[in-house]
Amino acid sequence: MRRIRSLCLPVFVGIAGVGILIVQTAFSREDVVEAEQEKIARLPAPKLQGAMSLEEAIKKRRCVRKFKDKPLALEQLSQLLWAANGVTGRDVRFRAAPSAGALHPLDFYAVVGKDSVPGLDAGVWHYNPEEHTISLGAKGDLRDALKDVSLKQRQIARAEVVIVVTVEYERTTVKYGNRGKRYALLDAGFAAENLFLQVQTLDLASCVIGAFKDADVSRLLKLPEKHRPILIMTIGHAE
Ligand SMILES: Cc1cc2nc3c(=O)[nH]c(=O)nc-3n(C[C@H](O)[C@H](O)[C@H](O)COP(=O)(O)O)c2cc1C
Repeated sequence: MRRIRSLCLPVFVGIAGVGILIVQTAFSREDVVEAEQEKIARLPAPKLQGAMSLEEAIKKRRCVRKFKDKPLALEQLSQLLWAANGVTGRDVRFRAAPSAGALHPLDFYAVVGKDSVPGLDAGVWHYNPEEHTISLGAKGDLRDALKDVSLKQRQIARAEVVIVVTVEYERTTVKYGNRGKRYALLDAGFAAENLFLQVQTLDLASCVIGAFKDADVSRLLKLPEKHRPILIMTIGHAE
């Protein structure tokens, strides 16, 4: 009897172990499927030293609206997204640009054209600062259609990559009430200027675009309802 009892425990532990393993496998399989469905690209680590001084970048910064037909490297896109919204501090609250209450209401979407960034499909890539990855949402080269809903500004169709900045006001207004809207827009200004200056240091060119139809941009890019587009930046090589 004692022998049977002493056998029971290891058998029970064994069965429980196999059960846990089966459940775990089922969950990890789901994660993999989700990851596959979402198409995620890991970005190269940002460089912390550049060829141009901050002063020179400030002096050189100009809106450029004509671009060459020349792709951007993934390293360049990575550097730009990091400069705008990358994590630079001890946790995800501390980023390249300041944010009221460290609440970070902004999201960055890179609208990538066909053959614009070798290795990336054409489509709308959402930046995840915490992981320094981008994930593909709407598919296809949407630059021309984005131009059409932005007062037909041709620079949008000509840029290799178009960055769309969105704001989720609720992340800031939950703490600051109505004033949070002002803070969220100020956050966007800080981040956009970081991006613009990083553009200069990479010998690229950019322009800021505020004239577009918000609802049409949201629909075209299939943005989440709460991510309201507030600013567009074209990126490419100056003609
Ligand atoms: C909030 C904002 C919205 C803008 N919207 C547009 C726009 O829709 N189209 C455009 O061609 N330029 C736009 N610009 C760029 C300005 O026209 C440009 O910054 C200005 O002419 C000064 O030139 P600079 O940036 O080369 O110094 C915008 C700039 C800002 C800051």
